[in-house]
Amino acid sequence: MHSSIFNIQAKHKRGDLVTVKGWVRTRRDSKSGVSFINLYDGSCFDSLQVVVPDNLENYQEEVLKLTTGCSLMVKGELVKSLGKQQSLELRAEEVLVVGWVDDPDSYPMSPKRHSLEYLREHAHLRPRTNVIGSVARIRNCISQAIHRYFNEQGFLWVASPIITASDCEGAGQMFRVSTLDFQDPARDEHGKVDFEKDFFGKETFLTVSGQLNAEAYACALSKVYTFGPTFRAENSNTSRHLAEFWMVEPEVAFSDLNESAELAETLLKAICRAVLAERADDLRFLSEYSGEDLFSRLDQLATMSFVHIDYTEAVAILEQAERDFEFPVFWGADLSSEHERYLTEQHFKAPVIVKNYPKDIKSFYMKLNDDGKTVAAMDVLAPGIGEIIGGSQREHRLDVLDARMDELGMNQEDYDWYRELRRYGTVPHAGFGLGLERMVAYVTGLGNVREAIPFPRTPRNASF
Ligand code: 4AD
Ligand code: MG
Repeated sequence: MHSSIFNIQAKHKRGDLVTVKGWVRTRRDSKSGVSFINLYDGSCFDSLQVVVPDNLENYQEEVLKLTTGCSLMVKGELVKSLGKQQSLELRAEEVLVVGWVDDPDSYPMSPKRHSLEYLREHAHLRPRTNVIGSVARIRNCISQAIHRYFNEQGFLWVASPIITASDCEGAGQMFRVSTLDFQDPARDEHGKVDFEKDFFGKETFLTVSGQLNAEAYACALSKVYTFGPTFRAENSNTSRHLAEFWMVEPEVAFSDLNESAELAETLLKAICRAVLAERADDLRFLSEYSGEDLFSRLDQLATMSFVHIDYTEAVAILEQAERDFEFPVFWGADLSSEHERYLTEQHFKAPVIVKNYPKDIKSFYMKLNDDGKTVAAMDVLAPGIGEIIGGSQREHRLDVLDARMDELGMNQEDYDWYRELRRYGTVPHAGFGLGLERMVAYVTGLGNVREAIPFPRTPRNASF
């Protein structure tokens, strides 16, 4: 078995004979007749210095022709390194070239720093860069920490469907799923596309959220969460929006808004602690790369108490702010990202949980408060990124839910199964959705969700 570079750092010592496999970052030849190859395999931030003596039989023919991107298997002995970068290096006894780069001038990932926009145009090769390698390891660390956290708290992970007929957020931002031939679709007598002739016999879409299904499982198994891809045909070209993103959605029976807000805070803290403990190597690199001190950013989120305020109070603070916002602030208006950033970065200088929003700017399923004007909703806002979590206590009273659906002109039949949950042993319940890419963008300091997912989907961009 070959050793990963991570294992070499963690387990091996001087004198060990090892085999490593990876890709060449750089090659430098010294006048004294050795070549230094910087080899990486993605198992950790660090690469391995491989020293190749010129007496290897393929030295002239192959080693001296190695370029960035070639893949290698190297056998040799670990020796003390004289370089400052590392304590151990590998003295090669055998270098086997697994794959050549056929035209080195055309290899898009040169060792110099490329712009993030350029890297996106080569999304299949960008994980070979330091920066996207670090993001991938941190995304993995965050995902594992989320599963670990919920498992320790007794939550069950449930799979929610990707294909659905219900629009959870009611915002009409759904991608249609269909087997119809849209060049020449079947039409009904009114000339409308006849979805009864479609695979599912009705119009179906890619889900915008697993919440409605998670509610059904919470109202049987008490504490559950979904963690999977969700889709929004939202035509916004911003650093916070993707057409395909991953959402983590816990849902808890016999629970209310305040308990959900506490759960959100402890989850975010657990994630930050895990990244600090497990990915210091990548945080060090990304801090330098982004110019943000990511250690103190995460440390703050992990230790600082979040501010909890009502929407009404947040609006009062914004109205008193001595600055002109692009979007006007008044009771009833949704908070825009500039408002969110003002609250977290200027006013409180802390993460803020805003609760109890006007019902007219929130989704149909949120519990109506006693004032009849607001719903038990919350948004968790983080400094530097804004909304990272959205959640609520759900309306568990069938008559109130029905009245709200009527008010919004929704077709009750489409939500029969969801309404039925309220007829058979209904309970107060609450939950939220955490956008994984917003969390990754925040933790890595890159601030753009396009860097936080391996192959980003945005308007007019679904290549790779
Ligand atoms: O606030 P949202 O729309 O809430 C829901 O979908 C609820 N059904 C969640 C629940 O209560 N179970 O989305 C939740 C989070 C946002 O706070 C944001 O972090 C992320 O999902 N998000 C997006 N991330 C990337 N691209 C987009 N287009 C996103 N839309 C939402
Ligand atoms: Mg939201």
